[in-house]
Amino acid sequence: MQAGAEAAGHRRLTRPALAAMRSPGMADDPKQIERLVIFGATGDLAARMLLPSLYFLDLDGLLPEGVKIIGSARSVMDREAFVASVRETLAGRAEGVDEAVWKRFSARLDYCPADVTRAEGLKDLATRLGGASTVYYLALSPSLYGAVCRALEAADLACGDCRIVLEKPIGHDLASSRAINAEVARVFEERRVFRVDHYLGKETVQNLIALRFANTLFEPLWNNLAIDHVQITVAETDGVGDRWGYYDEYGALRDMVQNHMLQLLCLVAMEPPADATADSVRDEKVKVLKSLRPFTAAAAHQMTVLGQYRGGVAGGKSVPAYSEEKGAPSAVETFVALRADIDNWRWAGVPFYLRTGKRLPERRTQIAIQFKPLPHSIFGTRAQEDLIANRLVIDLQPKEDISLLLMNRRPGLAGTRLQALPLSLSLDDGGRRRIAYERLLLDVLADNPALFVRRDEVELAWAWIDGVAATWADLSMTPKPYAAGSWGPAGAFALLERSGRAWLDD
Ligand code: BG6
Repeated sequence: MQAGAEAAGHRRLTRPALAAMRSPGMADDPKQIERLVIFGATGDLAARMLLPSLYFLDLDGLLPEGVKIIGSARSVMDREAFVASVRETLAGRAEGVDEAVWKRFSARLDYCPADVTRAEGLKDLATRLGGASTVYYLALSPSLYGAVCRALEAADLACGDCRIVLEKPIGHDLASSRAINAEVARVFEERRVFRVDHYLGKETVQNLIALRFANTLFEPLWNNLAIDHVQITVAETDGVGDRWGYYDEYGALRDMVQNHMLQLLCLVAMEPPADATADSVRDEKVKVLKSLRPFTAAAAHQMTVLGQYRGGVAGGKSVPAYSEEKGAPSAVETFVALRADIDNWRWAGVPFYLRTGKRLPERRTQIAIQFKPLPHSIFGTRAQEDLIANRLVIDLQPKEDISLLLMNRRPGLAGTRLQALPLSLSLDDGGRRRIAYERLLLDVLADNPALFVRRDEVELAWAWIDGVAATWADLSMTPKPYAAGSWGPAGAFALLERSGRAWLDD
């Protein structure tokens, strides 16, 4: 983007306008953060998500004036080299770089090499910070979180106004997650810990709350009297590629279901919170997690399917198998489909089917609420064949669309025939689609934890996931192969077919 920000329709926002961007749950008078330190600033997350998000916030006039951004990593380089690398990253994006904004943004940037695991390794950074209120963003391996917190404390950098941001996965199971959370909690009280699940920063995910609780239409139907089942799909076309070092330890269950998918499930299933503040919403999510029926070995084969992609053709290109990417055989799942049951009054008898995988035929994140069929049809046999039960489909990405499938009469004189037509509500306003991290970074700076995951949520989610993983281990369940570019192993279809249901669009 070469034209000025004003010309492109971007305004510098005034304080009242900024206040209007604040979401419910923000502290009334948050202590103004002066420094944002990104540990792991030379890594992939910083380059793809964090630095571009900060740039876009600045472009929109949303980054508070005094905030400086300090990149930090082990690599020794000077400020100029870091600034040049940020510029290169931004220039590589489709949006391009606005020179006026870049001037302002680059003036905020600094770089300080550090060994984040030792207090002595943070000396230069401490001098640079000079006691400023700081957000520390840990774009690092979670195995370092405890050590980093200890080092920050020992270097006197964990002052009362400082906050810490942690990326997922917090641990590999309940025990390791508890251990990490406990180490962090020794230094930072919970109100200063911001655990990222970037799905919560997506506009469409936040809209789920608006859809459910800003309309009267759905709530009376949002239960086991009207809803037959729910499907949540997070399908990706990409393979694991060179991330296999991380992925091979986690697999789809721990990489996607434990966090993003259970968060989506909670937002669909939770009771109306008392208000939209952080803890009211998180309290309701916690109740859902507590109501998830634990997996049993007896049910595991009926309730879960694991897969791993073989080579094949995806997006018109031939692509390697996961084991080829890794260069060795692996027992990790790149696909998982499972049935979750929520044992409470609202959802008794309503299965939630979750499926996610790499190298699937299309990129699609979607929640489908399938309503029950008509209790009785007054239409003749021919029209009866046309009947499809109502369905609410919430497309989160790449489409951002909500559509309600409704039955209509087909116009014409040839007797009564029915047709299903979608009532569509596109959320795409033609504007730039924000990176989920923009909202999240803005909220950390404003001290608003509403879109971050509380410790008990993370631990309850792990407790349930541990149960799934344990049954797989007990039964020696290993992933079934599926061709890249397909919808996973055959068992994924059987998971629904057993009860006369089917995945949408298969
Ligand atoms: C990450 C996972 O948390 O989410 C990745 O580690 C996955 O494996 C990614 O690809 C998906 O995020 P999005 O926003 O592209 O749907």
